[in-house]
Amino acid sequence: MKKIKKNKKKKKFIGLIVLLILVIVISMLIFGGKKTDLILIKDLDVEINSEVTLLSFIDEVKNGNIISEDSKVDTTKLGSQELTIEVKNGNDTKEYKFTINIVDTTKPEIDARSEITTTVGEEVDLLEGVTASDNSKEEIEVEIKGEYDYDKEGEYELEYSAKDSSGNETTQKFKLIVVSDPDNMTFTTSKGFKGEVIDGVTYIDGILIANKTYSLPSDYGNGLTSITQSAFNKMNADAKSLGLNLWIASGYRSYWTQNTLYNNYVAADGKEEADTYSARPGYSEHQTGLAFDLNSVESSFANTDEGKWVKDNCYRYGLIIRYPKGKENITGYMYEPWHLRYVGVELATKLYNNGEWITLEEYFGVDSKYKD
Ligand code: DAL
Ligand code: ZN
Repeated sequence: MKKIKKNKKKKKFIGLIVLLILVIVISMLIFGGKKTDLILIKDLDVEINSEVTLLSFIDEVKNGNIISEDSKVDTTKLGSQELTIEVKNGNDTKEYKFTINIVDTTKPEIDARSEITTTVGEEVDLLEGVTASDNSKEEIEVEIKGEYDYDKEGEYELEYSAKDSSGNETTQKFKLIVVSDPDNMTFTTSKGFKGEVIDGVTYIDGILIANKTYSLPSDYGNGLTSITQSAFNKMNADAKSLGLNLWIASGYRSYWTQNTLYNNYVAADGKEEADTYSARPGYSEHQTGLAFDLNSVESSFANTDEGKWVKDNCYRYGLIIRYPKGKENITGYMYEPWHLRYVGVELATKLYNNGEWITLEEYFGVDSKYKD
């Protein structure tokens, strides 16, 4: 009796195993192995002219290997685009097609001055030197929004506006200042500081400013100012006591010295390049008598013991690194670790900013851009 029961159980078990094997064999026959699947990433929108590759759209491949090469996708035209990816699984090769969408959601960028000054009755081309660029690489027109009157003294708050063909719009505020005498006037900077032009020399909050926006009369200056020279002397004495050797390689430069220098650079490197490292005559800080260049006047100066010490200590003597690293688009000049400018200890300490140098332009809220 017991034995019969045991045999029955055994038979039932074998039957189950056979059924299971059958199910597996049949499903293998039907599906021909494991199913291949390609799962795409969710966002198939691609910004125009961005760099993307074919396989960057794949989130996961189930059961198979991609055999398509990871090539660059053409993103130069707006609209939809069909892409194909080949996947191999065993002897099977399958093509997957999917559609991506090239879009433009990025606003154009406007490069313009934030302040333009003119004399009553004198019209100026407000679009001169203004450029707009867009990731679509299309030509972008800039328009002026707001009302102004060249015959009426005043500060006019206006806007530049640029729109790309996808409708992305950028607006940028600027101020048109109409005055009776541009060489003697006052204005307010975007950070609320008082600007004063006295006989063609600009002071902001009492600090003389010379950059690509604010020029000097050609007859301005007559040597390094005594306060600047004594700031250097003090700094030099302390440097010496630490075994460091500093010297002024170039101090005051007249309008005409700068004119010769700049023209030589233009002849050697072209105007665009020269403008990144040399000031045009009338725009150099060297003409103020408040600036000087140290030692080698080379970027390698930054890595010398002298250069490192100066960068972190010059502010104690009222001197600033005038053209800091990473601020090229703000100052308008490449990093000049050797060029120091006297502004007084109080302001120099603020601009030192615990080693993260702030520029005069950022601090006062002004720009440094030539009119053309
Ligand atoms: N190298 C500075 C920018 C000048 O020429 O004044
Ligand atoms: Zn310099």
